[in-house]
Amino acid sequence: MKNFLLTGVFTLIICLFCGFIISAQQQEKGKALTKDVSQIINRSCVTCHSDKGSGMAKMKVNFDKWQSYSDEKQVKLAQKCYQEVSKGGMPPKGFIKSNPGAALSPEEIDIFRNW
Ligand code: HEC
Repeated sequence: MKNFLLTGVFTLIICLFCGFIISAQQQEKGKALTKDVSQIINRSCVTCHSDKGSGMAKMKVNFDKWQSYSDEKQVKLAQKCYQEVSKGGMPPKGFIKSNPGAALSPEEIDIFRNW
């Protein structure tokens, strides 16, 4: 009987521990710069949105500092990025004119939507 109880308690502790690990993983809800996304960003955005970029742009989003942003800020900015690229606000039209290669294809805009 005592053994039975001990096994029960032990199993319970293991379950709690596993639950804790799983929930800790689920709390990871920032936005990582995945390979797909960073490829586009490196080509079309970092000229302005990086440490070496322009003042206003890097104040709003600096992809070199992405890792240091809070999860909340990453999620918010990722949404803004999608909003901007989907409505054609970013990269700025003037920039695309002088750097046609920076324009995003519909598939690349989808990558931002699914980010
Ligand atoms: C030619 C420079 C330039 C490039 C290239 C550029 N941006 Fe920007 N971006 C700016 C500037 C300047 C601002 C700040 C002024 C503004 O909001 O229009 C800005 C603002 C933003 C904002 C904030 C908008 C807001 O309302 O807070 C987001 C998000 C953004 N850019 C995303 C991007 C993404 C994603 C790319 C690449 C696909 C990109 N930008 C490429 C110059 C640039």
